[in-house]
Amino acid sequence: MFNIDGSPSPARPAPGGSKLPHSRYILRAMDAAFSEKIATLYRAHITVLKLRHDRALDAAGFDHAVIFAGAQHVAFLDDMGYPFKVNPHFKYWVPIVDNPHCVLVYTPGVKPRLIYHQPVDYWHKPAGPPEGWWTAPFDIEVIAKPEDAAKLIPKSGRIAFIGEWDDSFKAWGKLESNPPSLLNRLHFDRAWKTEYEIECIRAANETGARGHKAAEKAFRAGESEYEIHLAYLRAASTTEDELPYGNIIAVNDNAAVLHYYHHDRNVLDKKERHSFLIDAGASYNGYASDITRTYSQRRDEFAELIKAVDKAQLELCDAVVPKANYPDIHMMAHRKVAELLKEFKFVDLDPDAIVEKRISSTFLPHGVGHYLGLQVHDVGGFQKDPEGTTIPKPEGHPYLRLTRVVEPSHVFTIEPGLYFIEPLLAELRKSENAKYVKWKKVDSFRKFGGIRIEDNVVVTDNGHDNLTREAFAALA
Ligand code: GLY
Ligand code: MN
Ligand code: MN
Repeated sequence: MFNIDGSPSPARPAPGGSKLPHSRYILRAMDAAFSEKIATLYRAHITVLKLRHDRALDAAGFDHAVIFAGAQHVAFLDDMGYPFKVNPHFKYWVPIVDNPHCVLVYTPGVKPRLIYHQPVDYWHKPAGPPEGWWTAPFDIEVIAKPEDAAKLIPKSGRIAFIGEWDDSFKAWGKLESNPPSLLNRLHFDRAWKTEYEIECIRAANETGARGHKAAEKAFRAGESEYEIHLAYLRAASTTEDELPYGNIIAVNDNAAVLHYYHHDRNVLDKKERHSFLIDAGASYNGYASDITRTYSQRRDEFAELIKAVDKAQLELCDAVVPKANYPDIHMMAHRKVAELLKEFKFVDLDPDAIVEKRISSTFLPHGVGHYLGLQVHDVGGFQKDPEGTTIPKPEGHPYLRLTRVVEPSHVFTIEPGLYFIEPLLAELRKSENAKYVKWKKVDSFRKFGGIRIEDNVVVTDNGHDNLTREAFAALA
């Protein structure tokens, strides 16, 4: 079913996400047929992981990988824990995201050993027994105390430890912590998502789209950022800790703060409300979606600009085909933003000159997207090869997170934006380029903050499937 790197073999059926009846995906997490499908794909996923780890361990000269799920961190001078964030290498193998002190031991040719932590604890709810659809690939050893793992760790050969290191692990034997020669190889392969991973990201998009629809409704009903956030969580049936990243729920000029994590409680009067940007995702089996939409309060020129950015975003998605160079898509986004700056009369210059003079970077100061998967900003985006040679970013574009060539079964975001960001506009105003800018027009748009449209796409053999648009269409 998969090549050794996880890319689909020619026998893979034509990518059919968009061709299946959309209703099939609604509430799929509760759907028995979907659960069966996930379980089947998971078995194939594990086969791919074994091949990838065999190859990486061999090339890096290791005999075993010991993958630590992570420990619970506690606040300074306190007994309150931070939300637990599992090691992505662990959830790659095991879809358990909420159980610290588990360990996966992988030795080529040997059934993977899962050391499963199940403490006796009357202060906290301990993990349940290791049961269910995901358990078959493992020899499972249950431990009551973290230190009990020591006796289950291999004692001979070269051992790579993957996870957050703590000196207490010295008691486990001679471990080499996070060797780059191994991690680079594993991270390089992570770019090719297995069908299991794609289905998980698809499901995370469905959940996210449900949250987005409820959030838009709450905005239209005049609710505060805080209330919109709650509407999102409820509709997506998710807790804050389960979100793949903090919800960005930005009304008005708060949309100009790229990582705006406040949730303002103020209910604004209708005439004080202008715009709404929401960047919010969801998780499924440890895989993320990452979705942004922008709305205008009125049918005004800002609404026209949103429509134009949305159209540009779809055109950028159309550029997602195998062999496309991702930095070219990023530069195409700059060109499209430049065209809009000209068309909407923010800047009086030809689009090429707007890009060339780097004026577009004031209005689009982030990369057009990034890999997506176990991590929101998934690893490996700069890797040229398994050894870890990097592909440089285009000069003047320091925030681009993906410089690789596009290949089937890659999953990434396409997220152009156009913002009115106070400190960046202040810089532009002081620069040589200030004379090209129609400041009165620009100033009149500051109250809207900005626009971002973000979808998650999976590359197919001859194009892409847009998981986010499919998820929204299913709810229409
Ligand atoms: N939500 C984070 C990002 O779009 O990259
Ligand atoms: Mn993103
Ligand atoms: Mn986002």
